[in-house]
Amino acid sequence: MLVTELIDKKKQGEPLSAEEINFFIKGYVNGTIPDYQAAALLMAVWFKGMDYRETTDLTLAMAHSGDVADLSGIPGIKADKHSTGGVSDGTTFIVAPLVAACGGKVAKMSGRGLGHTGGTLDKLESIPGFSVNIGIKKFAEIVSEAGLSVIGQDKELVPADKKLYALRDVTGTVDNISLIASSVMSKKIACGSDAIVLDVKTGNGAFMKKAGDSVKLAKVMVEIGKLAKRRTVAIVTDMNQPLGVSVGNALEVREAIEVLQGKHGGNLKEAAFTLAARMLMVSDICDAESDAFGKLEEALKSGKALSKLAKMIEMQGGNPDVVSDISLLPQAAKKIAVKSDKSGYITEIETKNVGIAALMLGAGREKKEDEIDPAVGIWLGKKHGDYVKRGEELALFYVNNEKNLEDAISVFKSAYKIEDKEPDELPLIYTVISE
Ligand code: URA
Repeated sequence: MLVTELIDKKKQGEPLSAEEINFFIKGYVNGTIPDYQAAALLMAVWFKGMDYRETTDLTLAMAHSGDVADLSGIPGIKADKHSTGGVSDGTTFIVAPLVAACGGKVAKMSGRGLGHTGGTLDKLESIPGFSVNIGIKKFAEIVSEAGLSVIGQDKELVPADKKLYALRDVTGTVDNISLIASSVMSKKIACGSDAIVLDVKTGNGAFMKKAGDSVKLAKVMVEIGKLAKRRTVAIVTDMNQPLGVSVGNALEVREAIEVLQGKHGGNLKEAAFTLAARMLMVSDICDAESDAFGKLEEALKSGKALSKLAKMIEMQGGNPDVVSDISLLPQAAKKIAVKSDKSGYITEIETKNVGIAALMLGAGREKKEDEIDPAVGIWLGKKHGDYVKRGEELALFYVNNEKNLEDAISVFKSAYKIEDKEPDELPLIYTVISE
C-alpha cells in the first residue's frame, strides 16, 4: 500500500477502508510516513470529509496506536471530561477536584494548546514541577488515591494523537468534525474511563462556529462512545466570548484556583458546575442536577475541592502550595493596560482573536517547536454586555517579550465591537446530548 494512493483517493472524495486507515496510523506513528504526507492526507480529509464508518475506524486505530489503560482494578465508575477547545476554558481544574471531592474518580487524558485555543497540559505544566508524563501505572495509582489525575498523550498512550494533534495544530487542519471526534474519543477510549462527559464548544472562539455543526460533532462523539461501551454525554456550550476572564496558562490556573477558593464566579463557575454535575450523574453519585449542584457547592465551600487539587498537584510532582499562594505560579515581568478607544456596550467579542492575541504574547504555539511562556496572557476587564468608557481599561496584558506586543494589542482591540445599544445576554448552555 502507498500513502500517496490514500492521499489521491481522499482527494477525490472516496472513503478509505479500515485497512487503509490502520496503515496510515501505523506508518505515521512508526515514522515511515513523514509529516508532509500526513499533512497532505489531513488536508484532503479536511476538504472531502470522512463518513461515520471512517471516523470510527480512525478513532479506534488511534486509540490502539499505543497502550490502553486498564483502570478496572479501581473500585467505582471512573469518569473523564473533555472540551473540544475554547478560549479561557480552565474548567478541568475546577471540575476534576469538585467531582473527586464528592466521591467521584476522575481519570482524564488531555491535550496541548491547539490553534488559538489553550491546552490543559500546557496549563498544568505552568505549575512548578507538575508532570503530565507519568505513565499509566502512576496515573492509575493517583486516580485511586487522590480521586483525580490528568495525563497527556505520549509514546505509550495514543501516540497517534500526540503526533497528529501537533501536526494539525500548525497545518490548518483542526476544525473538521472527523478529525476532532477521532482525536478526542481516541484519548477517552485509551485512558480507560467508564464514563465520558464532553463539553462541545460552539461559537466564534470554537472550532465549530455554528451550533448545528457542534451538535453534529457532539452526536458523532456520543455514538463513538456508545460503540466503545462508555457512558457518554455531550453538553454544547457557548464560546462566543472567552469563558472566564483569564487567557494564558498560569493565569487560567490562577483563575480556577480563585473559583475553588470561592472568590470568583461567573460563566466559568457555572459551566464547571454544569459539567461536574453531569460527571456525578454518569458516575451514579447523583440522580439529578439539583442534587449534584448542592453537593458541588458544599465541596467548594468546605475547601475539600481545593484540597483535592493540591493532592493531585503534589502526587504529579508539582508544588501544592500554589492553591493557597498563587504568587508561586510563574509571573510575567510587565502588566500593560489596554484601553478602550470608544465608549459603549460590548456587543460582540471575536473570541478567536482574543486567543490569537494571547498566542502572539507567547501563550501558544505558531510552529510545532515553539516554546510556550507559561506566565504571559491576558486578563479581561470587560466582557460581553459590559459598558466601557473611552480610555477605560479593557484588559491587562501580562508580558515578558514585547516583540509582538503592538500587533497583539491591535488584534485584541479588533476583536471588540462597541456600540450604543445594550446587547442581549448570551446563552451559556445550549443542549445536552446523551445516548
Ligand atoms: N481537543 C482534542 O483533543 N482534539 C481536537 O481535535 C480538538 C480538541
